[in-house]
Amino acid sequence: MDNKYYVGYVSIHKLVRTLADRLMASGYDPDVIVAIGSGGFIPARIMKTYINRPILTVGISYYGMGQKHSAYPQTIQWIDEAQQQLRGKKVLLIDEVDDTRVTLRYCIGELLKHEPKEIAVLVLHNKRKRKEAEFQPEIARYFAGKEIDDVWIKYPWDAIDIDEHAKNEHLMLTEYHRQGKELEV
Ligand code: G4P
Ligand code: MG
Repeated sequence: MDNKYYVGYVSIHKLVRTLADRLMASGYDPDVIVAIGSGGFIPARIMKTYINRPILTVGISYYGMGQKHSAYPQTIQWIDEAQQQLRGKKVLLIDEVDDTRVTLRYCIGELLKHEPKEIAVLVLHNKRKRKEAEFQPEIARYFAGKEIDDVWIKYPWDAIDIDEHAKNEHLMLTEYHRQGKELEV
C-alpha cells in the first residue's frame, strides 16, 4: 500500500451527510452554495441533496486555463451578476480539501467584495499542517468533514480505474482497522 489516503464515492456521500447534519445543527441556514471547481463540484452537488439550496460555481486554480502551475491562484470562471447573487446572502462555500488554505483565502476575498451577509466554509478534509494563509476575520463558521495528516488524498473523480481505487480504499481501511486507527466510513 502506498501512503495515500483513498476516499470512495460512498464514503464521500456519507461524509457530506454528516456535514449537512452538523451544518443544520449549528443553525446556519445558507441561501446559496458556492462550489469551488473543480474539486468542490461533486461535494456541493451531494450537499444540495441534503439542504436543497442553489449552487453557484467558481473556477479557481493554480493551473489557470493552461497546464502550467502559477505562483498564485487564478480565477478561471466567476459568477454571472455576482453582485445580485451574493449581496446580503448567506453563503456556504464548498471545496474538497483545505490544504495550504491559499485558494480558499483567495476565493473568500473575491466573494467578500460582493458583500454577502456571511460566508461559512465547508470542506471534506482538512489537512493538519502549518497553513500558508489564514481565513479572513469575517469567517466565523468552518466545517471540516475529517481532520487528516498531511498525506495525498486520492479522490474517486481522479481515478482512471475506479475498481482499483475502491480496492485501495478497502485495503487502507482494513489496514487502519488492524492498527487500531479510527475506522473511516
Ligand atoms: P486550499 O486553499 O483549498 O488549501 O487549496 P491549495 O491552494 O492548497 O490547493 C492547490 C490544489 O491542490 C487544489 O487543486 C487542491 O484541490 C489540490 N490538492 C491539495 N491537496 C490535495 C490532495 O491531498 N489530494 C488532491 N487530490 N488534491 C489536492 P485546484 O488547483 O483547485 O484544482 P482542482 O483539482 O480543484 O480542479
Ligand atoms: Mg480545488
